[in-house]
Amino acid sequence: MTDSPRFPPGFVLGAATASYQIEGAVREDGRSPSIWDTYSHTPGMVTNGDTGDVACDHYHRYAEDVALLRDLGVDSYRFSIAWPRIVPDGSGPVNAKGLDFYDRLVDELLAAGIEPAATLYHWDLPQALEDRGGWRVRATAEHFAAYTATVAERLGDRVPRWITLNEPWCSAFLGYAVGRHAPGAREGRGALAAAHHLLVGHGLAVQALRAAGVREVGITLNLDRNLPASPGSPADRAAVLRADTQHNLVWTEPLFAGRYPASEEGTWGELITGQDFRQDGDLELIGQPLDFLGINYYRPIVVADAPYREADPARRVATDNRYAEVRLEGVRHTAMDWPVAPGTFTDLLVDLKERYGAALPPVHITENGSAEHDAADADGTVHDTDRVAYLRDHIGALRAAIDAGVDVRGYYVWSLLDNFEWAHGYGKRFGIVRVDYDTLRRTPKDSYRWYREFIAAQRD
Ligand code: FCB
Repeated sequence: MTDSPRFPPGFVLGAATASYQIEGAVREDGRSPSIWDTYSHTPGMVTNGDTGDVACDHYHRYAEDVALLRDLGVDSYRFSIAWPRIVPDGSGPVNAKGLDFYDRLVDELLAAGIEPAATLYHWDLPQALEDRGGWRVRATAEHFAAYTATVAERLGDRVPRWITLNEPWCSAFLGYAVGRHAPGAREGRGALAAAHHLLVGHGLAVQALRAAGVREVGITLNLDRNLPASPGSPADRAAVLRADTQHNLVWTEPLFAGRYPASEEGTWGELITGQDFRQDGDLELIGQPLDFLGINYYRPIVVADAPYREADPARRVATDNRYAEVRLEGVRHTAMDWPVAPGTFTDLLVDLKERYGAALPPVHITENGSAEHDAADADGTVHDTDRVAYLRDHIGALRAAIDAGVDVRGYYVWSLLDNFEWAHGYGKRFGIVRVDYDTLRRTPKDSYRWYREFIAAQRD
């Protein structure tokens, strides 16, 4: 490991998971259904009809999973808290047994010498709130703040790092525009209202966390590196601006520049000019100072003007009516069919620093990793050389961003365990630990051993 990059002293190395993807025990100890229970149980929504009913059964096996983290040697573990376990109706009475579970988990982590990092919302909205409008309505943001205050009061003394929202782009646009995530809605305006109310919820949650006196507060965004399919094409470059607006600027401009994106009208037209969900004071609420920005990064996206799809439908892999996404040729693709291009990770971070300067808080990479076509030996061992290469190269790209002056303080691998990969179900494996879904047996992969050595080498 002599050739592996070294990080500054105090740099946090960790691993991440999320509640619905690993916990299972969906009907236990007073947990109510979330929008992901409803969505995954709706025929046709998730590959193979998979649901999170059992998942990795982490709810019962958390001590075994913490032991895996301890042996890995991580400084920190990022997990998420399931709102439907804490406030089953979304608002109102608190379920003590739900809080007790995270209390036990936090104590287990601390006993293992691991710093807990808690995400308050990793997409499992109580279904009861979706039934009352979900993120389309402002009241949901207020209920989120009340739930946050409850959790912070119980765990704030022992959890130093808090993340309000995970990837609000997915909640708003995959959830309410494209329908590929729960609740499966396809509404342009509803998605824009959801995006705004998620940000309002973030701002209110920041206030609740500050009031509880926690050490560090941040938000996690999945910022995209959007590249033009034809750099010489003005139409493709305009499509990149629309993609940047919908993926990145809708969040970063209110959070770090105190304004809505200048390009929003050109992106959403009358959907945004006709909006009535913004209120005076919202930008101040949303733009409160943060201790860190969490960034999840996996791959670049190649963007073309929408008519591109008519020109060459074979290269189109995804689209909405604002731009088309096309395949990046000449690089390896993962099991998600995502292109592997680590240099784009450096570029994203350097550009972000250039854009926001001193207004950009220190960064934690709260997720990075890859799904690969894992083949397990009879004993469950996986020689996942592609995943090792992916992690090594992205960690190197991160080090390059630090060398270029970006203040990055931490890195969390996605994911500790193979788990429920949302609409893809269990078929896509991101873990550095294999989970056999028949027996629920955990088996560390080669990537787990590689990461363990990497962490140990940092401390030599
Ligand atoms: C991110 C999610 C995470 C996981 C990875 C692969 O978008 O935050 O839960 O599914 O992608």
